[in-house]
Amino acid sequence: MKIFIYHTPELTPIEETPECAIAVDVLRATTTMAAVLAAGGEAVQVFSDLDKLMAVSQQWPAEKRLRAGERGGQKLAGFDLGNSPLDCTAEVVQGKRLFISTTNGTRALQRIEKSPIVLASALVNRAATVKFLLQKQPETVWIVGSGWEGSFSLEDTVCAGAIAHSICQQTNSSLEAITGNDEVTSAIALYSQWQDDLLGLFYQASHGKRLVRLDGLEDLKYCSQTDILDVLPIQHEPGVLKNHY
Ligand code: MLT
Repeated sequence: MKIFIYHTPELTPIEETPECAIAVDVLRATTTMAAVLAAGGEAVQVFSDLDKLMAVSQQWPAEKRLRAGERGGQKLAGFDLGNSPLDCTAEVVQGKRLFISTTNGTRALQRIEKSPIVLASALVNRAATVKFLLQKQPETVWIVGSGWEGSFSLEDTVCAGAIAHSICQQTNSSLEAITGNDEVTSAIALYSQWQDDLLGLFYQASHGKRLVRLDGLEDLKYCSQTDILDVLPIQHEPGVLKNHY
């Protein structure tokens, strides 16, 4: 297995696809997706365009849908939810489909949607992601960070490093054996340095600071937890993800 990390959707090659592509938006879209499916949501359907989200979700039975919209870290008017994983309790999401659009995370998923296997991962479901990769053994894996409007983000890179680090450890592989590009080595180094204080790293991150300003400290704490959800959002049809487990 060769792992490649791309820090943003914009840096991700468009002329080829890997066997398995993973979108990561730790703060907070892919954490929220994992939380929705862990709480019994039927599926998550992602959109970059808000009008399209409204039009498609309109076709779905009202009692079985939730609309989540976020821009700039804030909930959009007219939507049921913003992008907080803490809002996704079983009482709210059980049996429902979440139609969601966020600033960066949904764009990352759209960028990789043509890959044969598409996953959504975060720190909360890192172990579930690694378990799947070790079972499936895809030849090439791309981990695509969502970043922030085209820029690098610490939280997505540290999560990509956490996945690669665990693959290395569990397969007793050398770094060289799994590394597809230089980003993998630097992401593993970042994770190795911060693995015992991921919340501390999020305080340094620009989007972490933004969320704290927006009263999202509890979200930051939730998103910084590793391996707490045995759930893996996997794409069933373009843009629609369900739990693999
Ligand atoms: C995004 O898609 O950029 C994020 O998930 C933003 C957020 O924290 O809601």
